[in-house]
This record gives sequence, C-alpha cells and structure tokens, in this order.
Amino acid sequence: MEHIKGYDYGKSGLESSPISMEDLSLLKQTVLWSEEDQANLQKAGEILKDQVNDILDLRYGFVGGHAHLVRYFGKNDNPNMEYLSAVRARFGQWILDICQKPYDQSWLDYQHEIAKRHHKSKKNQTDGVDAVPNIHYRYMVAFIVPITMTIKSFLAKKGNSQEEVENMYNAWFKAVTLTVITWTYPYINEGEF
Ligand code: HEM
Repeated sequence: MEHIKGYDYGKSGLESSPISMEDLSLLKQTVLWSEEDQANLQKAGEILKDQVNDILDLRYGFVGGHAHLVRYFGKNDNPNMEYLSAVRARFGQWILDICQKPYDQSWLDYQHEIAKRHHKSKKNQTDGVDAVPNIHYRYMVAFIVPITMTIKSFLAKKGNSQEEVENMYNAWFKAVTLTVITWTYPYINEGEF
C-alpha cells in the first residue's frame, strides 16, 4: 500500500479509545447491526474501491461549494490546498477501512485519533497547519446525511440487484453512524457520552 501522510491506523503510540469493546457491542445492537451488515460492507468495499476518486471528487465538491464547511480547511476563509489534499488521501483510505477493517480494539483506537483530529484537542497537528482550530459538533452529526446519501449511486454502479444495493446502503449507513458516534466523544462532557 502506498504511504499516506499522517495515516496512523494500527500504529503504536495511539491513545487507547475511551470507548470499550463492550460499549461498542451495545452501540452496534442499538444501530441494529447484524452479521449480514459485516458481509454487506465487505461487498461494498469491493464495489467502491475503484471509485474512491470519484467519491472524493463529489465530497470535495460539496465541501468546496459551501463556505461554512470549507472554512475548516483553512483560516480567514482561505482554504489551504495542501491541507485539503493531505486529508483527501486519508479520507480515501477511510472509505476502504470502514468497509474492510474489523471493528476491533485497533479500529476503536484509530477512531479516537480521528475524533481528536476533528476536535480542538488535535485538529491541525497531523499536517502542521494553521487553520480553524475545531470543527463544530453540529456539523459532525449533520455530515452523516451527505456521507450516507451520496454513496448509493456508487453502490449501484456495478450491476447489483436493487435488494443488494439496498442492503449495502443500510450497512454503510449503520457503519457511518457508529463511526461518527465514536468521533463525537471529545465533544461531550465527562460522564455524559
Ligand atoms: C479529517 C471523514 C466530518 C473536516 C477527516 C478524515 C476523515 C474524515 C476520514 C481523515 C482522518 C485521518 O486523519 O485519518 C469525515 C466524516 C465526517 C466528517 C466521515 C462525518 C460524517 C467533517 C466535517 C468537517 C470535516 C463536518 C468540516 C467541514 C475535516 C478536516 C479534517 C478531517 C478539516 C482534517 C483534520 C486534521 O487536522 O487532522 N475527516 N469527516 N470533517 N475532516 Fe472530516
């Protein structure tokens, strides 16, 4: 695999997630997670892997088209192009990871790292940039909608039946929701998560 700058999945030295495997299991039950979702996500990974660039173009078009979103990639409303492209590479890898990686302790630990990278506790540090210091919580949750809804057309591009597409889409929705829940941890007062 090519080296992706700042991509630290599985690296030693990451802080352990404050969310336990037991917490994760209960969260999975709460988002109606099943064994089939696991298999459907693997299938989605196969379908999406050669479309990652197109998905990224769409996402960056969406972010770039909204001043209130692109501002987080820079300072004083000037987006930092190097920052945008460094994050783009890690985002591409994330699309594969959310589909293909087991949701184990390493997964939890890297979700905690990504959580901090959106939050003021660690934003900008990975790329050494001077940008807006924190992504507001409200947009973290709101993003579940575009990240979910825009994936369907990509899932439907490889000739799978409507039912298969629907199953992969539902699994993606659950996985994104689960992921974003783990990313909100740093925003929540102690004992309230
Ligand atoms: C970083 C996905 C919400 C802006 C990242 C990364 C991923 C990602 C995969 C790179 C993680 C890594 O370092 O390995 C998502 C998803 C979101 C979400 C799935 C919600 C469903 C947002 C929102 C914004 C945003 C609402 C604001 C426009 C950024 C920025 C970084 C980043 C600026 C770089 C953070 C840093 O300095 O390290 N995001 N993101 N993200 N995202 Fe998000």
